[in-house]
Amino acid sequence: MTDTSFTPRVFSGIQPSGNLTLGNYLGAVKRFVDMQNAGIETIYCMVDMHAITVWQDPADLKRNTRELAAAYIACGLDPAKSILFNQSQVPAHAELGWILNCVTRLGWMNRMTQFKDKAGKNAEKMSLGLYAYPSLMAADILIYKATHVPVGEDQKQHVELTRDIAAKFNHDFKVDFFPQPEPIIDGAGTRVMSLRDGTKKMSKSDPSDLSRINMTDDADTIAKKIRKAKTDAEPLPDNMDDLADRPEARNLINIYAGLSGQTPADVIKEVAGQQFGQFKPLLADLAVAHLSPIADEMRRLMDDVSEIDRILGDGANRAAEIAEPILAEVFDIVGFVRSR
Ligand code: TYM
Repeated sequence: MTDTSFTPRVFSGIQPSGNLTLGNYLGAVKRFVDMQNAGIETIYCMVDMHAITVWQDPADLKRNTRELAAAYIACGLDPAKSILFNQSQVPAHAELGWILNCVTRLGWMNRMTQFKDKAGKNAEKMSLGLYAYPSLMAADILIYKATHVPVGEDQKQHVELTRDIAAKFNHDFKVDFFPQPEPIIDGAGTRVMSLRDGTKKMSKSDPSDLSRINMTDDADTIAKKIRKAKTDAEPLPDNMDDLADRPEARNLINIYAGLSGQTPADVIKEVAGQQFGQFKPLLADLAVAHLSPIADEMRRLMDDVSEIDRILGDGANRAAEIAEPILAEVFDIVGFVRSR
């Protein structure tokens, strides 16, 4: 249920850990742009503090943060309309994060499937930060009292946890302070799958570069990856239900729909009966036409790093203006003495 007593405000973030993928684009950035253009207040972050929950080379982290900023802007986020900044420049995230660590229960964290997926059998060797990260993510959202959080499917559990944390904070301190933020997961691109295995999420950390399309791939690379994408031998049917057991085919139709702004049902009607030999070149043309101008613009923006840093600094100032009074209220609610 949407919480109506709080002003609508959108927050979302992406880790600057390199290799921004088509999954990040369709599941997140493209939808960030739509929400910005719908006229809602929008705050979009490069969550560098999340990125260091696994090892990041410091020089790469800086480059990837700026490259993600360039991607945001190249995809249509406008620093005059949306607040764009990197998380570490607004310390209120970390400060609220600590307080929420003390609200969040270990049992809740133990249910987080993403930690289990990422840590696998090596949980003992993972950082404490990786384990605690969903509570920092809750702080990212709640420090702005954000009401709407556009994310891909894989982040749904974390936004639901944020709702639990907000409710427990309100309950423990007998306040109606934090909203119940709503995960916004809509459209065809909220779960883009690997091009090599339609049952696995497209991921920047997959060892095979052929499994994903990177936002910086050139036209030939995009076309090659689509040509080599795993498929089956059947022609395309005329409805999505018949793709239920054909994950790779379903994924390519979803990608086409995400890029063209159509529904998968409309796409499948258009391409019914086609073999992949016909459909893949159509998809490659669409992907190249859509993504190449973005990659070109990213390269152009990366030529002027000082302008990117200026945008991030300005965004951080504007973000801090919203976050700091909320943090001060949280300190009062929790019982911290504030005397300077
Ligand atoms: P991250 O950096 O892993 O991914 C960024 C966004 O991209 C989406 N996404 C996908 N969507 C569709 N198909 C895919 N294959 C795919 N892969 C990634 C993710 O769902 C996400 O929306 N914890 C978050 C970042 C974060 C955040 C926040 C998000 C930190 N604080 C506060 C929202 C609000 C993360 O690691 O996303």
